[in-house]
Amino acid sequence: MQYEVVLPAAGSGKRMGAGHNKLFLKLLEKPILIHTLEVFQQDTLCTGIWLAVKPEERLYIQTMLQEYGITKVKSLPAGGVERQHSVHSCMKEMEQVDIVLVHDAARPFITHDIIANLVQSAHTYGAAIAGVRAKDTMKKVRNGVIEETVDRDSLWMIQTPQAFQYDLIVEAEDVAEKVGFLGTDEAMLVERLGHAVHIVESNYENVKITTQEDLIFGEAILRKRALDLA
Ligand code: C5P
Repeated sequence: MQYEVVLPAAGSGKRMGAGHNKLFLKLLEKPILIHTLEVFQQDTLCTGIWLAVKPEERLYIQTMLQEYGITKVKSLPAGGVERQHSVHSCMKEMEQVDIVLVHDAARPFITHDIIANLVQSAHTYGAAIAGVRAKDTMKKVRNGVIEETVDRDSLWMIQTPQAFQYDLIVEAEDVAEKVGFLGTDEAMLVERLGHAVHIVESNYENVKITTQEDLIFGEAILRKRALDLA
C-alpha cells in the first residue's frame, strides 16, 4: 500500500531559540530537515512528499533538496500561522491517493517499520497514529495541587506520523476549517467526526526536536544507530 506524506516545516522553533528555523540546525553535519526527508526519500512505499514551508525559506530549502538528492518533493506550499494551517495548505494541493501521512519535519528518527505499520493500519481502519505508553506516574494538577493520579495504563504520548485514508482526512480538515476548530494534531480533527483512530505502538527514539537538549539526544540516537550498523 502506497502513501504520500505531508511534512509541515514552516514553524519558527521559538522554544529552540536558534534565531532561525530549527530544522536547519545540524545533527552530525546534516540538517534536521534532511534527516527527516531522507527517511521518506528512501521509503519504498512513499510516492510523494508535500513540504509546507515559509515562503521566505522556500528558495533555501529547494537548494538543500538539490544538494542532498531529495527528489520526491512534489510541492512546497506556503505554511500558515499554526501547524494545522500548514498541513491544510498541502492537503489543498494534493490529489486523491490511498493513504496520507502527516509527519512533523522535526521528528527525524521515524523508522520504516513504524511507517509500514501505520500505513497498514490506516488502510484497514481509516486512521492510525503513532504513540508510546506513558512511562512516568501521571497526575492531574490544578493550581499547583494534585487533583488525582491518572490510571497510567490508559495514557499514551502521541507522536507523528499520523496516517489516514485520503477521503477521511480531507473531510476532517474541511469540517475543522468551516467551524474554525484548531486541534493540536490531525487525529483530533478525525475524532471530532466520531471516527475511531487506532494507535500504532512507536518507540521513544521518535522524539520531536524542540529544545536545545533534544539536539544532544538526537546526536546520541544517530551515533547509536551508526554503531548498530557497523
Ligand atoms: O513547533 P513544533 O516543533 O511543535 O512544530 C511541529 C512541526 O510543525 C515542525 O516541523 C514545524 O516546522 C511545523 N510547523 C509548521 N507551521 C507552523 C508551526 C509549526 O509547519 N505554523
